[in-house]
Amino acid sequence: MSATIIEQATPRLQRSELAVPGTNPKFFEKAAQSEVDVIFLDLEDSIAPDEKEVARKNIVAALNEIDWGTKTMLVRINGLDTHYMYKDVVEVVENCPRLDMLLIPKVGVPADVYALDMLVTQIEQAKKRTKRLGFEVLIETALGMANVEAIAQSSKRLEAMSFGVADFAASTRARTTVIGGAHHEYGVLTDKTADGGPRDFHWNDMWHFAQARMVVACRAYGLRPIDGPFGDFSDPDGYVAAAKRAAILGYEGKWAIHPSQVALANQVFSPSEADVTKAQRILEAMAQAQREGKGAVSLDGRLIDIASIKMAENLIQKAKTIKQS
Ligand code: GLV
Ligand code: MG
Repeated sequence: MSATIIEQATPRLQRSELAVPGTNPKFFEKAAQSEVDVIFLDLEDSIAPDEKEVARKNIVAALNEIDWGTKTMLVRINGLDTHYMYKDVVEVVENCPRLDMLLIPKVGVPADVYALDMLVTQIEQAKKRTKRLGFEVLIETALGMANVEAIAQSSKRLEAMSFGVADFAASTRARTTVIGGAHHEYGVLTDKTADGGPRDFHWNDMWHFAQARMVVACRAYGLRPIDGPFGDFSDPDGYVAAAKRAAILGYEGKWAIHPSQVALANQVFSPSEADVTKAQRILEAMAQAQREGKGAVSLDGRLIDIASIKMAENLIQKAKTIKQS
């Protein structure tokens, strides 16, 4: 273990993160009643330019008037390259003591986060806000991904990063128009065989590299990695497959752009009974191994060692947090 100690962000359950456009107050109450862990009320890309003002007003009212229970509440502000951003921050942070975090889109360099930290710090001091605001950033541009490690260290307020696959595809000019999921042309054709037999086409995950890069940056600096949207809300199987890929890589949760995706995300990002039982058996087997002075043993015909203890403990800790929520 390195002697460099990394502080972990404020722990929060973030299995599901529901996007709710600020222009749709009729969805607010429903979202508040849902099983989702995190909600972001959107001022950015789901809102047309002429609607920004009204969305802002709706969101300020909703954060003050609706009972959001214990949910983590975010507002997605507009990007730093727009003239909407300063008003988003000032109006929302000044007037919404219930707000937990800001979601900052299209972050490209650490200075973007620094600028917002400065503005938020001034508002907190001026308004004597007692709840310190956290930040989640969207990594969704080529520049943001190129600087992801530096961004991950840019502010003490930073708690999480989301991978914004739609803007990332646009920014990198990926040849697709869908939001997340697989692409039928991104795959590997198996070699020709001597007998000229049939060849298989294996689909690959075109987002793997970006997701893997972001998860490492997050874990290196104590942040929660969250997977972004899956646009086809009529395809729960596709959603679950995408969520599982992210979960297996180490992501803590995934966006829901439709209420039907919330339960799917909660399920995928919660360890199953079988996972917990297996983790407990690993801990028991390792405790026994240590009593016998061994660092590694076999369980069900597989090697387990001291690293297995950490993996098992992570899983059990997650299950405990979910139970307490
Ligand atoms: C989310 O904002 C995305 O661009 O995918
Ligand atoms: Mg985006």
